[in-house]
Amino acid sequence: MGGSGIAGDVVRSAFAAECPVPISVTKGYRLPGWCRSHSLVIALSFSGDTEETVACYKEAFERGCTVVAASAGGRLAAAAASNRTPHVTVPGDVSMPRAALGYLASITIGVLSGSGLIGDPGESVAKTADALDALADRVGPDQPTHENEAKGLAAVVADRIPLVWTSEGPAEGAAIRWKTQLNENAKMPAFHSILPELDHNEIEGLATVDAGQFVALVLRHALEHPRVAARVEATRALVARSGLEVRDVWGAGATALEVVFSLIMLGDFASVYTAVLRGVDPTPVPVLMGLKERLAR
Ligand code: PA5
Repeated sequence: MGGSGIAGDVVRSAFAAECPVPISVTKGYRLPGWCRSHSLVIALSFSGDTEETVACYKEAFERGCTVVAASAGGRLAAAAASNRTPHVTVPGDVSMPRAALGYLASITIGVLSGSGLIGDPGESVAKTADALDALADRVGPDQPTHENEAKGLAAVVADRIPLVWTSEGPAEGAAIRWKTQLNENAKMPAFHSILPELDHNEIEGLATVDAGQFVALVLRHALEHPRVAARVEATRALVARSGLEVRDVWGAGATALEVVFSLIMLGDFASVYTAVLRGVDPTPVPVLMGLKERLAR
């Protein structure tokens, strides 16, 4: 769920094309019916105490699935110890679940690779890490706004409601991450939709209203389907009269992993700069923590 479950979305969108079996991300209390003893279940929860994740872990164990859990501790670690199922401890030096994406995604990629479901990701991971180091320099706090794409994007979204669009494929996980980081860091509404599906419904709801309070950010990249470029232009033209600004944001890289993580890094920085512009603290998430406390009573 949330800042932990996003690792599943990111890995699915980066590796679905190469994995010979479906990668399904479950965000709820129950596993799908087809999930049986032949299935590999990876239960991710930074705290290890998220009730939905713990419930799915237990269901997977009872159904005889191969289960690997990852957490910094909590009930998930305790259940894994008592059931003698593998558990990976997420290092405790991370301040919050959504900052642990690198760890949780790496663990998931490692488990998929170790199970023979995807190839050795070593080279791709190393190239992605180098590309992210370079990107962090270009969009970090020391870079002035006029040379800093993330600060520029923050200025665009700070007083509007962002609609994060991308095309099906490697950037889907990035679109979800942009939405959730804007929610949690900048404390603002944000929504995500996927092309081409949004051309079959969402544009109808946007084209003829005053949509000036929204801004659509389209996460683009080199691996998108050749029809996407024409689709984005046609979509932009059709919604133009509503006052909706449709702005392209390009991810870098030639591999799915680079694409998804370059877009994520840009969005993560942009969401924190948006928080600063909106005068809110990006770190605490009191509303969702309050909800957890209320449900625990
Ligand atoms: O960012 C957050 O704090 C939340 O989205 C959490 O990640 C979410 O509630 C799930 O908790 P955990 O990551 O501990 O499983």
